[in-house]
Amino acid sequence: MVTLSHQEARRTYDRIGSWQDSQRFYEDQATSLVLQRGDFTSAESVFEFGCGTGRFALRLFEEYLSDTAHYRGVDVSPRMVRLSQTRLAPHSSRAEVILTEGEPPVEEPAESYDRFVSNYVFDLLSHEDIQAVLQEAHRMLRPNGLLCLSGISSGTGFVSRIVAGVVSRIQSIRPSLVGGCRPVDLLPFLPQSEWQVHHYSKVVAFSISSEVLVAKRC
Ligand SMILES: C[S@@+](CC[C@H](N)C(=O)[O-])C[C@H]1O[C@@H](n2cnc3c(N)ncnc32)[C@H](O)[C@@H]1O
Repeated sequence: MVTLSHQEARRTYDRIGSWQDSQRFYEDQATSLVLQRGDFTSAESVFEFGCGTGRFALRLFEEYLSDTAHYRGVDVSPRMVRLSQTRLAPHSSRAEVILTEGEPPVEEPAESYDRFVSNYVFDLLSHEDIQAVLQEAHRMLRPNGLLCLSGISSGTGFVSRIVAGVVSRIQSIRPSLVGGCRPVDLLPFLPQSEWQVHHYSKVVAFSISSEVLVAKRC
């Protein structure tokens, strides 16, 4: 399975920019579930990997986070970083967004976050990167901290299976046409000795299947 390199992901999402928000027609159902199941009202520090335009973070600030909670987002695309910084400007005293080279967040301090969030990013990473980022998530989360993920997954019914197959096929031929994304099921990446799954579901919107996964760091 060929995936976008970090540089290709940067170029792709620099080009996509704010158009990414148009994907809400199938993403919102899953990300709303992440917000509901992630117990964000009790979180004091949230890290987001691949924050995009900052849409999820803004909802966090407006609807869930306490007045003392802090947010740190990272993204490989300079354009996405600028968009999310602009969107989060009203909360800039408690929100920072950092440009990365796409590497797993190895520089982040250990046991320093209550939530590690990533929406529709793992589905464009290589299996090696998924494993490496999850390893960092486990290290960065405080004990009992929550990993909160959503992304495109394999289908659950006839039509969503066909759509997932088509997306996979396009991704394998010309990944940038689908933002590098293809269906990925994340449960097999979480060792039971390290994670306790709190919530797992698949939702289908407009025949596109998404996975929602909330797991506690053991
Ligand atoms: C499909 S978009 C999803 C954006 C946002 N999370 C959302 O749900 O709208 C994928 C995002 O991940 C970012 N990204 C891709 N690979 C990355 C990496 N290796 N490290 C950090 N960000 C990455 C892209 O720049 C883009 O903003």
